[in-house]
This record gives sequence, structure tokens and C-alpha cells, in this order.
Amino acid sequence: MGRSLLIIKPDAVERNLIGEILSRLEKARFIVAAIKMTKLDYDQARKFYAVHEGKPFLDELCKFMSSGPIVPMVLKSDGDTVAKIRELIGATDHKKAAAGTIRHDIAVSLTKNSVHASDSPQNAEQEINFFFS
Ligand code: CMP
Repeated sequence: MGRSLLIIKPDAVERNLIGEILSRLEKARFIVAAIKMTKLDYDQARKFYAVHEGKPFLDELCKFMSSGPIVPMVLKSDGDTVAKIRELIGATDHKKAAAGTIRHDIAVSLTKNSVHASDSPQNAEQEINFFFS
């Protein structure tokens, strides 16, 4: 089975959408292999998003990601888990996300886009190790 990391971001936690997002993931037959609620400080968020160092949106993103609780989880499925999750969550920009995707239905802005998911199997392993030992 393949695996990936998904994070429910502070905007979705704040709006009581943890259950809604988990329900969509489970209905799509992903197995929740690990899950927790946690809060990052700004420096931890910078470390998590180190691949975006130098990007103009990084500061705003890290302020937001450290603004409240988040729910990281490890998801498993048959086949290409990373690609399947990214299809279910939709494009990074919710305005470009396909109808029926999590970001299309739930996200409020490019930064407050409700969920993060790993973009490659290699990054998935790094991101899983960041949150789960
Ligand atoms: P995420 O999947 O968490 O990965 C990086 C995040 O940066 C992304 O979702 C968005 O929330 C945020 N972001 C803000 N502005 C941009 C942008 N112009 N391009 C890509 N990501 C952006």
C-alpha cells in the first residue's frame, strides 16, 4: 500500500470541518493509519515548508499554519496514494479546483485552502517523519 501525509489546516479546524474532511477521505477508501491534533510554532512551519524558501507567500503561509491547531494524518491506499489524494483535494487555488473536490467545496483562499497533501512519494516520507515518529 502507498501512503501520504495530509494536514487539515487551521481554517478548516476552526470551522468544525475535521469530520467533513475525514468523511470524504474515508468514503474515498483511504485508510487513516495515524492522526493527531497539534499546533506548530512559526519556526516549525518554516521548517515544514522549507521547499518554499524564497517564495513571496511563505511568510503569510507560515503565520497562518502556526495560527491554530492542525490535524496531520497518514493516509494509506492501494495504488498511487499521493496522486489519488491530490485528485480528491483539488488544485492548490480553490478557484481552479474541480467541482466536488475538498478545496473547491471548503477552501476560502489560496493560503486558507483547508488541506495540505504531499506532492511526491519522497516528500510524503519526509513529511510523515516530520509529524510522526
Ligand atoms: P499547500 O499544499 O499547503 O502547499 C503550500 C501552500 O502555500 C499552498 O498549499 C497554499 O496554501 C500556499 N500558497 C499561497 N500562495 C501560493 C501560491 N501563489 N502558489 C502556491 N501556493 C501558495
